[in-house]
Amino acid sequence: MTRNFVDVDDLTADELHAVLDRAATMKAAHQAGEGGKPLPDRTLGMVFEKPSTRTRVSFETGMTQLGGHAIFLGPDDIHLGHGEPIRDTARAVSRYVDFIMARVFDHADVVELAQFSSVPVINGLTDDAHPCQTLADLLTIRERFGFDASVAWVGDGNNVCQSFVLGAAMVGLDLTVATPEGYGVDEGVLKRAEGLGSRPELATDPAEAIAGADVVYTDVWVSMGQEDEREQKLQDFEGFQLTTDRVGDRTVMHCLPAHRGEEITDDVLESNNAVVWDQAENRMHAQKGLLVWLHENDSE
Ligand code: CP
Ligand code: NVA
Repeated sequence: MTRNFVDVDDLTADELHAVLDRAATMKAAHQAGEGGKPLPDRTLGMVFEKPSTRTRVSFETGMTQLGGHAIFLGPDDIHLGHGEPIRDTARAVSRYVDFIMARVFDHADVVELAQFSSVPVINGLTDDAHPCQTLADLLTIRERFGFDASVAWVGDGNNVCQSFVLGAAMVGLDLTVATPEGYGVDEGVLKRAEGLGSRPELATDPAEAIAGADVVYTDVWVSMGQEDEREQKLQDFEGFQLTTDRVGDRTVMHCLPAHRGEEITDDVLESNNAVVWDQAENRMHAQKGLLVWLHENDSE
């Protein structure tokens, strides 16, 4: 059976732990200068409708380290977006490559890609979800706290937050999500989280969420594709900026890229409490673990 990673809950909780275990083992091996090449001659096709630094570089480098290869398929490189439907792209490209990773606007597009692809499809971010980010975030939290930690999400309840809500429920993290009114997590995602273990606490006051937290996590207020909403969002998110006063000495997470001076101050991002570069590094280790796990579980 072809396994996909369209969102975190495409894995069971046991499978999620197995991917994280594999990622941690591979990270240790990489740091020791070892590692092996478990995916020789395998190819990852990487479809991008939006820009990316971390996702593109971590997947491409990860595939090289695994002994395989990645092909960058940007918006002007293929027919997708220029008339060829996503289902035709899926059926053709999956005849060549062993995995497809896609960063698209509409979540329904990655769902359709997975439906028509004959190889595993990995979601590299949609407007609704960012499960690869969640893998790296959980790995980062596990390295510092195990999963015995309280996390406060402070900011927009969209893609990065929504996948994190699911992942947190699956590993048993204590999570409070503080968003302005109208920017909360989708009710369908909250229901899925409940089915996976627990709904997060919800708040509209950042101070309330941060008070009991070990870790404070934020994301940009103006996501890719929302540039026209910028002025409105800057007003609506007033009071949600992570400042030194608000976060104190808590661990600070950000998926990056950061808009300094909006959701986070320069001081907080540059402080020793920020683990953002570990998060960024862990994208590569987590995705290597995922690719190897998908390969092993796809060929059973
Ligand atoms: N966090 C993240 O996905 O970063 P990029 O947009 O640079 O890939
Ligand atoms: N919420 C952000 C995340 C970027 C990784 C966006 O969608 O632009």
